[in-house]
Amino acid sequence: MSAPDRRDDIAGLVEAASVARERAYAPYSSFRVGAALLADDGRVFSGCNVENSSYPAGICAERGAVASAVVGGARRFSALVVSTEADQPTPPCGVCRQVLVEFAPLLTVVSVTTSGLSARWTMGELLPSPFTPASLAHA
Ligand code: THU
Repeated sequence: MSAPDRRDDIAGLVEAASVARERAYAPYSSFRVGAALLADDGRVFSGCNVENSSYPAGICAERGAVASAVVGGARRFSALVVSTEADQPTPPCGVCRQVLVEFAPLLTVVSVTTSGLSARWTMGELLPSPFTPASLAHA
């Protein structure tokens, strides 16, 4: 894929993640998160955090996006954008990193803030030495 296409892809994901963030249900933390995943077939799947009065029952935006993609028939992804209102761009939490690496070990992860800051990581940077489906073969 050429560089301009890639920039356009990221811009589209930023918009989708921002729309998702505005739908976040985060009455307990007030930390709204939106996520948008680019599938290899070109489709974009989004998610937002959905909290619960039983706190551990809440789910992160990234895992919501993965669930949406999988039920939509997509399992291969190249890029993820996370959108928050935080002071600094925030990476996916550890549980979400594990869920993401299952499907996308080469994922590019971009995090943006509503103030205009951004950061970018590879999945390998976020989760070195991951436990993957291949790890089960060595049991
Ligand atoms: N959260 C996400 O949605 N994604 C992350 O990667 C980090 C945390 C949510 C979970 C909870 O609803 C709120 O942000 C505060 O932790």
